[in-house]
Amino acid sequence: MHIKATLGDHELPRQWYNLAADLPRPPLPPKAPDGSDLGPEQLTALFPRALIEQEMSTTRWIDIPQEVLAVLARWRPTPLVRARRLEAALHTPARIYFKNESVSPAGSHKPNTAVAQAYYNAQEGITHLTTETGAGQWGSALSYACSQFGLQCKVYMVRSSFDKKPYRKVMMQVWGGTCIPSPSPTTRAGRAVVEEHPDSPGSLGIAISEAVEAALEDSSGKTHYALGSVLNHVMLHQTVIGLEAQRQLHMMGEKKPDTVIACVGGGSNFAGLAFPFIREKIEGADIDIIPVEPSSCPSLTRGVFAYDYGDVAGMTPLLAMHTLGHGFMPSPSHAGGLRYHGMAPLVSEAARLGLLRPVALPQLECFEAAVLFARTEGIIVAPETSHAIAQVVREAVRAREEGKEKVIVFGLSGHGLLDLQGYAEYLSGELQNMSLSEEELARSLASLPHAGPAL
Ligand SMILES: Cc1ncc(COP(=O)(O)O)c(C=O)c1O
Repeated sequence: MHIKATLGDHELPRQWYNLAADLPRPPLPPKAPDGSDLGPEQLTALFPRALIEQEMSTTRWIDIPQEVLAVLARWRPTPLVRARRLEAALHTPARIYFKNESVSPAGSHKPNTAVAQAYYNAQEGITHLTTETGAGQWGSALSYACSQFGLQCKVYMVRSSFDKKPYRKVMMQVWGGTCIPSPSPTTRAGRAVVEEHPDSPGSLGIAISEAVEAALEDSSGKTHYALGSVLNHVMLHQTVIGLEAQRQLHMMGEKKPDTVIACVGGGSNFAGLAFPFIREKIEGADIDIIPVEPSSCPSLTRGVFAYDYGDVAGMTPLLAMHTLGHGFMPSPSHAGGLRYHGMAPLVSEAARLGLLRPVALPQLECFEAAVLFARTEGIIVAPETSHAIAQVVREAVRAREEGKEKVIVFGLSGHGLLDLQGYAEYLSGELQNMSLSEEELARSLASLPHAGPAL
């Protein structure tokens, strides 16, 4: 009985896949913060040239440097596992597979891009990286990656997660990084928020402002900023997930999936798994591709497509994306990594083209599915990942009702071993669903800048 498909070291993908090469129309370009055209030279204060080139590239295949492969090979290729016990519990004829990214050193998909970003920065002579983190997965991944290439890492962590997940900070410190709760008094952007809202739980948008400011303030020219999601080069680095999964599905005797599911915060683990399958879909395959977001932060399902800032203070370039408005303050749900106002431009564009079927799910249904998964498949997943599993359960139940033998693949983006507070609240019955009212949404959308023509 086949349970999992594993690839050898030599089968690690040697190139990343760039969806921008295959979309029927090119994604809209980013703009400078004041709405004018953005040149590559305006990004060099923050990013190394190699990443800026990747950001703008429409080349389909981009070589992965040997030095990056040598680090990724510590845990990649990751296994594709058939969730037979979950199938049995759901009495479904569907065949359910998960791509297990929780086996990386930091416990999620995030090191796939952290390693590449640390490498390109070190190549350019950069010695320090700043970044933000929601649940702490990205901050710990970048701290780990920096330790592999001799860089110093400073992480601004959203305060609500900093308080709930103290051991993520310790992980960052073990790898040599520093971790500061955001909003913090160490930056202008942080102080401005604290003055207005002394008890602010923070948000990814605020933490990004702080990390960008900290990078720009360093006059030595040796500090850059790294972003863990949203940007095109981050989506690119994550595509090793889907490229491996395509081969592994074939090893399991499946020609193609019927349904591909992953949770979305800024879009990177979804992109990593889904983009190679979106290519198959563009070429004619019938695949239902579902990004799953929290009902409390529904950028794809209730946001608008517009040019907006990536951060709260309006320091980043303007991106054409689905957004709830950069001033959006999400409720402090446990899926800290999904509390982001925007969505990756490439994911947004794929959604606009009708290639995706986004859904938004409430927190309680997600934890219920995660507990079922833990009791059947054994893995305690991150609260972010639980959104994907809840949608898998819906699809598997539908397959049972329709009597259809569907092939469902989902992204297990991370483990939840440092997220147990959320599980504790769920098990004790304290956890609540969090909704977003029309008034809150309208207030937040009012923060949209008016850059260029309406989209
Ligand atoms: C385990 C896990 N899954 C998913 C996400 C969502 O981010 P993205 O949409 O970039 O994959 C995060 C973000 O922190 C995460 O930690």
